[in-house]
Amino acid sequence: MAQLLMMNLSSVSSSFLVPNTITTNRVSKVSIRSSNTSIRKCVATSSTEKTGYKTGVSRNANMAKLQAGYLFPEIARRRAAHMLKYPDAEVIRLGIGDTTEPIPEVITSAMAMKSHALSTLEGYSGYGAEQGDKQVRAALASSFYADLGIEESDIFVSDGAKCDISRLQLLFGSNVTIAVQDPSYPYVMLKLEKPLATEGVKHISSFDLMSSSKRGCWFGHDSMLTGQAYVDSSVIMGQTGQFQNDVEKYGNIEYMRCSPENDFFPDLSKVSRTDVIYFCSPNNPTGSAATREQLTRLVQFAKKNGSIIVYDSAYAMYMSDDNPRSIFEIPGAREVAIETSSFSKYAGFTGVRLGWTVVPKELLFSDGFPVAKDFNRIVCTCFNGASNIAQAGGLACLSPEGLKAMRKVIRFYQENTQIIVDTFKSLGFNVYGGTNAPYVWVHFPGRSSWDVFSEILEKTHVVTTPGSGFGPGGEGFIRVSAFGHRADVLEASKRFKQLYK
Ligand SMILES: Cc1ncc(COP(=O)(O)O)c(C=O)c1O
Repeated sequence: MAQLLMMNLSSVSSSFLVPNTITTNRVSKVSIRSSNTSIRKCVATSSTEKTGYKTGVSRNANMAKLQAGYLFPEIARRRAAHMLKYPDAEVIRLGIGDTTEPIPEVITSAMAMKSHALSTLEGYSGYGAEQGDKQVRAALASSFYADLGIEESDIFVSDGAKCDISRLQLLFGSNVTIAVQDPSYPYVMLKLEKPLATEGVKHISSFDLMSSSKRGCWFGHDSMLTGQAYVDSSVIMGQTGQFQNDVEKYGNIEYMRCSPENDFFPDLSKVSRTDVIYFCSPNNPTGSAATREQLTRLVQFAKKNGSIIVYDSAYAMYMSDDNPRSIFEIPGAREVAIETSSFSKYAGFTGVRLGWTVVPKELLFSDGFPVAKDFNRIVCTCFNGASNIAQAGGLACLSPEGLKAMRKVIRFYQENTQIIVDTFKSLGFNVYGGTNAPYVWVHFPGRSSWDVFSEILEKTHVVTTPGSGFGPGGEGFIRVSAFGHRADVLEASKRFKQLYK
């Protein structure tokens, strides 16, 4: 692996007023608070030793089909370059979907108690049920699926929704066809219009970034290797064709365009039948949530085609309108849908790791075999159960006090979202999302997402996410995440107002 970083932090001069180097008629100079403490020195990782020896094992051809997961590494690289250019700038990160608020104490104290109990003879427990603790499953059923016909035995507790999505791929095997929303939760491919030859920062691979973050480097943890949940896992399983550079899509995947023109819900009359339909609502990145009527159409579409919907509801608790929180609110959904969800964004469990997947017993394969029985087999084969400490936390989350505490944290992020929405609206932008998800999807018609990303970073020192990183359908948009400290969100909004006034 090539040498990755050549950082000479001391040689870079600071700048208080950021020079206006990008031409746009909406842009003004932004004055920015400076801080000398916002950069940590980055120690370049040593490159991996190159050896001439090769094993006799051929590479999995499906792995070779994968496109580089450029989005987050590229954002991190541009941010690193920016920090070199403006070492005194106070960079604000509203690009990532990682939580920033502390976990409520009612939840951490339950985890601490469980942890201490593990040091006692009476309190010790080893392997638990692969499907999860019975009490946690029961609490999930009553908290999120009461009156929806979902029982404790339909719920599999896990180490997170992303891991469950991969286990679902194993369940389906390599012979299924899939459909995904475009844009969708981190999309695999980003075509760089202008490969960035940034001074002082050479090409950095995801692997390099991970090594750097493990060494405590400035890059830090930024979900750099995250994503590609639906698409990449199906590529790895061999369900797709090769990547087609001209259209920036994999062969054999049905991409369902979701844009303001169709109210972020695909025109199902133009969607070909697939075996599996991945559907995320409230959506990451667009922040939109499907209505009851739209979901009814989706369920009917799946039923007509004999498809299975994998419904990702990881942001359902962020919804503020009365659209469905679960696909199982739609009549007939138990015969066509699986739902996956997570404590990550509800309770700040992105690091703790706890999620769940619902596979109703009514869901059957074409030969009549229950999908849940096969999923159970997959779970028992590939997973030894979620951490008992995390599950103690999950149970606390679902207690009356825990639910109250989670709602309070969510309300905090909702207020952040509102600040961001109001800011962009006041500047005359068309703004989507925000009402039902902690993501704001801002339209910059006719402009490249990466140009807008660069403009915002250059002029305001705020990191956002370019919409095209989530798929071709995201071109012309940027995603602004509401996960951040209040002072940062307010400061970012002030800078946005100065830039686009
Ligand atoms: C839509 C969606 N689903 C799933 C996940 C991952 O959840 P988990 O942390 O439980 O793996 C994310 C994380 O950002 C997400 O945005």
